[in-house]
Amino acid sequence: MQCLCLSIDADEWNDRTELLSLCEFGTVPNFEENLRRENQSMRLTVMMRAAEGMNDYRKIRKKAYQLRLRPADTLARHWKSRAFIERATREAHANHRVVVSHHGCVREAMRAGTEADVLSAAYTSDCSDLLENVDLWVYGHTHESRDFTVGRTRIVSNSKGYGPWKPGEASDNPIFDPNYVIEI
Ligand SMILES: [Fe+2]
Repeated sequence: MQCLCLSIDADEWNDRTELLSLCEFGTVPNFEENLRRENQSMRLTVMMRAAEGMNDYRKIRKKAYQLRLRPADTLARHWKSRAFIERATREAHANHRVVVSHHGCVREAMRAGTEADVLSAAYTSDCSDLLENVDLWVYGHTHESRDFTVGRTRIVSNSKGYGPWKPGEASDNPIFDPNYVIEI
């Protein structure tokens, strides 16, 4: 699973940066450097595809509705959130530690059949290194109902997704349960 982890300041990001960064990608003799650039190129590909194809980046606006949300914005938020979750769950003294995120948090949260799609990285990030102090992690975004365990962490999704658009129709997730209860 690909985890979006390109370090670039969201405010400096624009289409020109994307194109320049892609143009700078080239052959380098060092394997690790080559791999790093390959991974960066993959991340840029994912970010560009996400910007073009996801409703999130067409519909969601920022700066008093003047600008569109960009993948670099959510990437920057991703890194801040990771740092917060790591610190908060490590320092918490609660009996049960629960994390609620929009995106999927482990590779197992990828929607079945999307594993080979690079765009899956825009729906699920590999945060398995953050699970150590988490009892329950709830996520959405993939519009699925899931309930599974990684290590000792229970991971749950009960997201409705789009719709229903007409009375009597099912929503995007046909097994969404509006009365779902989680006991911890
Ligand atoms: Fe979403």
